[in-house]
Amino acid sequence: MQRRIVRKLDLEMLLSQVAPHPTPKPSLEQYTIPVDVAATMLYIAAYMHNDIVGKTVLDLGCGTGRLALGAAFLGAKQVLGIDVDKTAINVASENSVNTGLRDKVQWIAADIDAVHGKFDTVLQNPPFGVQRRKADRKFLEKALETSKVVYSLHKSLQKDRVLINKLKGSGNPFVPAFPSPFLKNHVEERDGKIRCVYAMLMVIPHMFHFHTKRKHEFVVDLYVIERK
Ligand SMILES: C[S@@+](CC[C@H](N)C(=O)[O-])C[C@H]1O[C@@H](n2cnc3c(N)ncnc32)[C@H](O)[C@@H]1O
Repeated sequence: MQRRIVRKLDLEMLLSQVAPHPTPKPSLEQYTIPVDVAATMLYIAAYMHNDIVGKTVLDLGCGTGRLALGAAFLGAKQVLGIDVDKTAINVASENSVNTGLRDKVQWIAADIDAVHGKFDTVLQNPPFGVQRRKADRKFLEKALETSKVVYSLHKSLQKDRVLINKLKGSGNPFVPAFPSPFLKNHVEERDGKIRCVYAMLMVIPHMFHFHTKRKHEFVVDLYVIERK
C-alpha cells in the first residue's frame, strides 16, 4: 500500500494524461471533470478524510476515468469504474494503459443499477440533472446503497457572483458551504448523513450547441456523505 503523500502537482500531471470523452452526448451530460477540480476532490478524500489510500473505491458514472485513475494513483486498494456509455469505457481503458494503472482499475460498461457490491468509498461526478431532472438522485441512492462514504459533486444552488469571486480571490481551491435542503432531506431519508460540503469553482469549455459562451464558469458543491 502506498503511504507517502503524493504531491498535488504529480496528481494533476497524472490526471491531465487522462483523455476526455471524444464525442460527449448532452443527454448524458458527458463533460469531463476538469483536472483541478478532480485533484482537489481526490486530495480532500485522501488526505483530509483518509478515504482513498488502502480503500476499495467505486466511481459511478466514471466517464473516461479521471476520478477512478486518480484514486488508483493515490493508492486505493481496488477501484471499479462503471459508465453506461461504451465509448467512455473504451477511452477509460486506454487511459488506464497510458497512465500505467491498468492492473489497478476495472471497468464496466453498464447502467449503475448493475452494481451490487460493497465498497469503502464512492467518488462520483454525476449528471447534474440539467438535461434529465434529478438525474443525480439515482446516483446518490446507489452510492449510499453500496458504500460507507460518498464524495459527490452537485451544482450549487448559489448563482452568487460573490462566491465565485471569493473562490478566485481566496487562493484556496475550496471554501466550506451549506448543503441544499433538498439534497439534505434526500440523503437523510436514505440513512445518510452529510459530513460536510465544500464549494469549488468549475470551468468547462464550450462543448454543446446550447452553450452560448466560450467557457462556462459555475460553482459546484462537493458533498461528503456517510451512511449512518
Ligand atoms: C458529468 S459526466 C462525469 C464523467 C466522469 N465521472 C468525470 O468526472 O469526468 C457523467 C457520466 O455519467 C454517465 N452516466 C449517466 N447516466 C448513467 C447511468 N444511468 N449509469 C451509468 N453511467 C451513467 C455518463 O455517461 C457520463 O459519463
